[in-house]
Amino acid sequence: MNVFDAIRQRRSHRGEFQNRPIDVADLNQLIEAARWAPSPFNVQPWELLIIQETDGKSALADVTEHAIVAQFKDAKFLDDNSRWMRLTDSEWRKHGDGVLLAEHVTLPKPLQDSPEKLRPVLKNAKSLAFLGHLGAGKMPAKEIAAQVRSAPLLMLVTMNCKRYPPGEGATRWMWLSMGMAIQNVLLTATSLGIGVQFVSAPLERAEDRDKIRQLFNLPAFHEVITLLRIGYVDGDSADSVRLQQSEFVHFEKVE
Ligand SMILES: Cc1cc2nc3c(=O)[nH]c(=O)nc-3n(C[C@H](O)[C@H](O)[C@H](O)COP(=O)(O)O)c2cc1C
Repeated sequence: MNVFDAIRQRRSHRGEFQNRPIDVADLNQLIEAARWAPSPFNVQPWELLIIQETDGKSALADVTEHAIVAQFKDAKFLDDNSRWMRLTDSEWRKHGDGVLLAEHVTLPKPLQDSPEKLRPVLKNAKSLAFLGHLGAGKMPAKEIAAQVRSAPLLMLVTMNCKRYPPGEGATRWMWLSMGMAIQNVLLTATSLGIGVQFVSAPLERAEDRDKIRQLFNLPAFHEVITLLRIGYVDGDSADSVRLQQSEFVHFEKVE
């Protein structure tokens, strides 16, 4: 697969994976992809924790579940998220950004055919926190936690803060390098028929990151960056949208 095909075909895989482990050779290629990412002064700040055993997956699934239940009680979190939630396919395409709500949570049956009915609720997402306190987050939390638990492989990506480059911009360059290593993994996965999903929920709150740090014996100088669910997919039919080039490309000067 050429690079541009991998770029265009890569999708966030939110569904089930094939029920088989990642081949050793394929895992090695994902690791090599991260290894060859660029970084300032070649500092190579990435660390990859590969989790394939039930215990580790279960522990991360539990942190994910608790985090999502807490997020549903958090008015600010709900409000901030609502800005990027799209209810219908046409709305999603028109905006060219954001995510389809129905791809992130299974909507109650009566809303599945007419998700636009949720618009007034989404406009006042803060008020949903009260439903969160009544337990509304439990179902999506269990659903997403189950996906974490059943993934053939989880990759916890951390940044080794002993590897800072010099200069005032060091923190930016560190994070940029992390993004490059992660994108290398995603594109290589695509070329191998492997799907990947970012799972951000367990990493949003400092207390959850600390919990993860303890669970996996991460030293204090490892900053937890992202968690990836990884597995083979049967061809990915998921769609996505993007802004038009004219919305973000500028020639010579920004108009
Ligand atoms: C830093 C980062 C965090 C993300 N977190 C999540 C997440 O928690 N759950 C999820 O399903 N997708 C997550 N995504 C995937 C985005 O939603 C996705 O990239 C975007 O909607 C475009 O869709 P595509 O990747 O299929 O093209 C994340 C992506 C990035 C880069």
